[in-house]
Amino acid sequence: MKKKLIAPSILSADFSRLGEEIRAIEEAGADWVHVDVMDGHFVPNITIGPLVVEAARKVTSMPLDVHLMIENADAYLDDFIGAGSDYLTVHAEACPHLQRTLSHIRQKGCKAGLSLNPATPITSMEHVLADLDLVLLMSVNPGFGGQSFIPQVLDKIREVRRRIDSLDQEVFLEVDGGIKVDNIGEVARAGIDVFVAGSAIFGSDDYAKTISKMRAKIDSALGNS
Ligand code: DX5
Ligand code: ZN
Repeated sequence: MKKKLIAPSILSADFSRLGEEIRAIEEAGADWVHVDVMDGHFVPNITIGPLVVEAARKVTSMPLDVHLMIENADAYLDDFIGAGSDYLTVHAEACPHLQRTLSHIRQKGCKAGLSLNPATPITSMEHVLADLDLVLLMSVNPGFGGQSFIPQVLDKIREVRRRIDSLDQEVFLEVDGGIKVDNIGEVARAGIDVFVAGSAIFGSDDYAKTISKMRAKIDSALGNS
């Protein structure tokens, strides 16, 4: 079975010590770094741009998983790819020319991801599956860390898992929002490959302990222990 990956979201990190925080999650056993980019239009919050991705790139060799929650993503793709993103994910709700956007990301040598808000039907990914390396299912309405997991998303995860498993290509299935030690097992059973967690990791006293508790819950839920 493919290794399940933990991607701490730096949205909940201490930005005054961002380099140290990224090194700390790497030492604690994280797999990817999740970077939340918000523009105050697509979501009601403003965070960071390519400069911070470039800074993160300098302090880690972990893949940078960049989640664009912005309008007019096409205008910024090259900047985020040039800054060192490994995965660049856009929202279906924000990209009118989705196939063009995703294939542009891939043409530039980056992995392309598609994110769906909790209320967006999975039919919106149907005609771009061949252009995807990753599907990111939001389990909160995007904009803020620390929100509660929306349980209706579990059925959606199962459905997308089945769809991905019927393909010949490798596509990661990622979940984002409200993932904690207490619910990660149930979410793993629904079929997730990559777990984003912000407040649950950066809000804990011991990042390594929290990540290993998460892995233990995933393993026991999947019967790997
Ligand atoms: C929400 C962001 C998430 C967020 C997750 O809009 O996309 O990545 O940081 O934070 P938690 O894990 O605290 O829900
Ligand atoms: Zn995110």
